[in-house]
Amino acid sequence: MSELRRAHVTGWGRYAPAQVLTNADLERMVDTSDEWIVSRTGIRERRVAAAHETTASMGAVAALRAIRTAGIEPDEIDLILLATLTPDYWMPSTAALVKEAIGNTRAAAMDVAAACSGFVYAFATAQAYIAGGMARHVLVIGSELLTRFLDYTDRSTCILFGDGAGAVVLSASDEPGGSLGIELTTEPQGAYMIWLPAGGAKSPPSAETIARGEHYIRMEGNQTYRFATKTMATTALESIRRAGLDPSDIGLFIPHQANIRIVEAVAKGLNLPMDRMYVNLDRYGNTSAASVPIALAEAVNEGRVQVGDRITLVAFGAGFTSAAVTVEWTADPARGAIGDAAVDPSDVRVRLPVDWDSVDPIPAALAELMAQPGTVDVPLDDVVPGEPEHARQPVGR
Ligand code: ACO
Repeated sequence: MSELRRAHVTGWGRYAPAQVLTNADLERMVDTSDEWIVSRTGIRERRVAAAHETTASMGAVAALRAIRTAGIEPDEIDLILLATLTPDYWMPSTAALVKEAIGNTRAAAMDVAAACSGFVYAFATAQAYIAGGMARHVLVIGSELLTRFLDYTDRSTCILFGDGAGAVVLSASDEPGGSLGIELTTEPQGAYMIWLPAGGAKSPPSAETIARGEHYIRMEGNQTYRFATKTMATTALESIRRAGLDPSDIGLFIPHQANIRIVEAVAKGLNLPMDRMYVNLDRYGNTSAASVPIALAEAVNEGRVQVGDRITLVAFGAGFTSAAVTVEWTADPARGAIGDAAVDPSDVRVRLPVDWDSVDPIPAALAELMAQPGTVDVPLDDVVPGEPEHARQPVGR
């Protein structure tokens, strides 16, 4: 064994906003049906962040749960990597806001942009820091607030996405196990297959870009689907080979939760039964960079992963990117409940500027729907950010 240290997952946690948006709710917004959405995607419902919640606030809750699960203090974290395509602001990084919210004083903090593959990219980066001796404990977060970037007149995208956050703590160790094999790819010919045209340097935000609807996610679903089914199995396979293993050695795959048909294609491509694939997209939809860490935390907490098991995390996303990491699990799965119980989301605060407040962040179509009788109530523009009274609801499952 070389001098390089191993990176073990020692903590995990997730947070899902309380508000649920069902397919039946979407039927009242766009020309779609529960039957179409379930049969084409497998999604039944997704979560919607309340007005006071942000990518940083959700990420901070998941992060603190992962830290408590690991049994360490926030200040023991040396590096914070936050994967997202929906940062709170262009600057500062969302990772910087999370650092303050979790009470860490010493870590370096930065965001990672690789769309839905972002969490696995960040995981790989964390491993490199640990193996290179530059960090002992790295906090890796995937957090997304996608429901504020969707065009609720475009039925081909608005049905797919939801909000949430997941996180892990990776810790240096000389013990066997931990992260064993990594594969990352980027194929820029897919750059405009999933993209958000306006708001960047090429097309800064203006009344015209908004009138054109260029501040919403756009997607060529068929092309993306083709890329995903082609690439996820090959990326997973390469990561498993680098770990010196065979797909049949993998106890559980944690795939990006975009579409059940894509997950089925991965299982088929690897010649494995569907019971080796963890699936929770029926409850959350596609939460982009948050999907893999939410699924991982749930799988472990449900007893689907035991000490000694080999698991593969695999994702694909805009870019086109894809990423896989194969891990030998070494942590006691029972610790997940400790982390969950230790953190009450209403105790977690992200500091706001003193002389500025945002406009109501909930898209009008969503606000209108949620305000109708019979649907779950979403706190709207009367919410003063930072005052959680309006949203004291139980945390998601
Ligand atoms: N309800 C009803 N009908 C719909 C809907 C809807 N919500 N959306 C599209 N349709 C219609 C289309 O208009 C089309 O109608 P037509 O035949 O009359 O033209 C028909 O359904 C079939 O459309 P397709 O796009 O061919 O449907 P498909 O089976 O490919 O499913 C889907 C579409 C679900 C988007 C699929 O292509 C997919 O999952 N693609 C991958 C998307 C993805 O995972 N994106 C996330 C990437 S990760 C990231 O980085 C953000």
